[in-house]
Amino acid sequence: MICLTLSENTIAACLERVKAERDYIDMCELRLDFLTKEECAKAKVFPSLVDLPCIVTNRRVQDGGRCALSERQRRAQLMDALDGDFKYIDIEEDLKRGELDEKAEARGVKIIRSMHDFEKVPDDIFSRIQQLRKRADVAKVAVTPRSIADVMTLFNAQKELEGIDKIIIGMGPYGIPTRILYKRMGSMLTFCSNNQTAPGQLSSRVLKTLYHADQVDEKTAIYGIIGNNVTNSLSPLIHNPGFRGIKYNAIYVPFLVDSVRSFFALAENLRMRGFSVTVPFKLDVLSYCGNITREVKQIGACNTVVRMPGLWKGINTDYYGFLAPIENDIESGRIRTALVIGAGGASNAIVWALRNRGVKVTILNRTLSRAEKIAQVNICSFDRLDNCKAYEGQVDLIVQTTTVGYDSWANPIEGFAFTGREICYDILTKPKMTKFLSDAQAAGCSLHFGQEMLIAQGKLQFEAFTGYHYPAGVAIDLDAPIQ
Ligand code: ATR
Repeated sequence: MICLTLSENTIAACLERVKAERDYIDMCELRLDFLTKEECAKAKVFPSLVDLPCIVTNRRVQDGGRCALSERQRRAQLMDALDGDFKYIDIEEDLKRGELDEKAEARGVKIIRSMHDFEKVPDDIFSRIQQLRKRADVAKVAVTPRSIADVMTLFNAQKELEGIDKIIIGMGPYGIPTRILYKRMGSMLTFCSNNQTAPGQLSSRVLKTLYHADQVDEKTAIYGIIGNNVTNSLSPLIHNPGFRGIKYNAIYVPFLVDSVRSFFALAENLRMRGFSVTVPFKLDVLSYCGNITREVKQIGACNTVVRMPGLWKGINTDYYGFLAPIENDIESGRIRTALVIGAGGASNAIVWALRNRGVKVTILNRTLSRAEKIAQVNICSFDRLDNCKAYEGQVDLIVQTTTVGYDSWANPIEGFAFTGREICYDILTKPKMTKFLSDAQAAGCSLHFGQEMLIAQGKLQFEAFTGYHYPAGVAIDLDAPIQ
């Protein structure tokens, strides 16, 4: 079940919110601590006004909530709310059994006993869950994984605590896969909100329409993307709709990773079928792959790992993805010469791709030694970035591979005089239109966007993952929400 946490301060606003998100949710949680004092007094009518099972919660400040009342007043608000038809009441771990439990039981309201840890995943989490469950209908733990090993501990709950009614939430960025794959932890529900009432929470719409999280079952094949900054990755917007397009019971989830070794252990545990690899792990995954393709060997980077019988295979679809939008222009001879701006990991694959197709390449980089290194391997020329003006009017293609323009409106070759005949290609995916492309467009150049490369490499990845072509009828919308 997908449960919406309501953080509005009036009952009317909560009802509006439920109405707006009704298509995406199965339950809702009324948080008394967000309501004003007057509105709190009306909480008991709330369940009769919505056609969903409701949880009532009055979260204390120490547990991440807003209720700063005395404990007696806080409990009095909950007692009052219990006159309404709530399905569940959330009572904290440390509260002794008392009138709240008695009233809940008398009214047939199920008790959720909850424990929060905003620092870590406690070592004794499984026994804590068992203890909580002894005192309630459902045990709830909201904890904070700090590593992929912690994430694995949470997924182990399914096996270790089979048959125990529980809610498990992994908070923060490491916890995102646990919020999406909640059913694979044996968790009864996942919480969502549109204004992140807890760190790492996703919106109901994303959980329901992008991930179809409520439809995950034992047979769902799990795929994902690993990196150190994947929370905003656009790749889920490519793969999840693609899986649905071919009616494949599969899901693609972002995994924030601190250790590749731990991640491979998790991938085995979850019986993952494959995953995308991004910064900074494109090299690190190689030592875990039993088989790599020629391109991976040449480029020295792997962006896709696929499960094969008995081993993991590393492939590189960045290479083809980069070429796809300019393939025809290379084929026709319109592109014979290229300037590649930047000499990082992405540049390496691009230079190799262009050289492999016979394009004459010059690499420009701020740090000359990095450009020299790539140039030597790929047999091409190189120069300092601030000599860029020497190449004005000299090249057919200019590829921007630096990180300049990602978080600022800046062009690494500021002042470069485009003739208007160049094809200009920026591999940044966000923003779509960078200053480099905008300057090139103003001079009349034709443009290619990083999002074209992302989609092309993603479609090839999809083929490697599934054995099927990406479905023609699926329109990829990279502007759709991802959180
Ligand atoms: P990736 O592997 O994703 O390509 P990277 O290895 O960090 O990332 O490479 C980033 C590229 O952006 C490098 O070419 C870097 O230039 P240096 O090698 O001189 O560091 C370039 N870059 C980053 N910030 C820059 C800046 N302010 N001006 C010019 N180039 C910059």
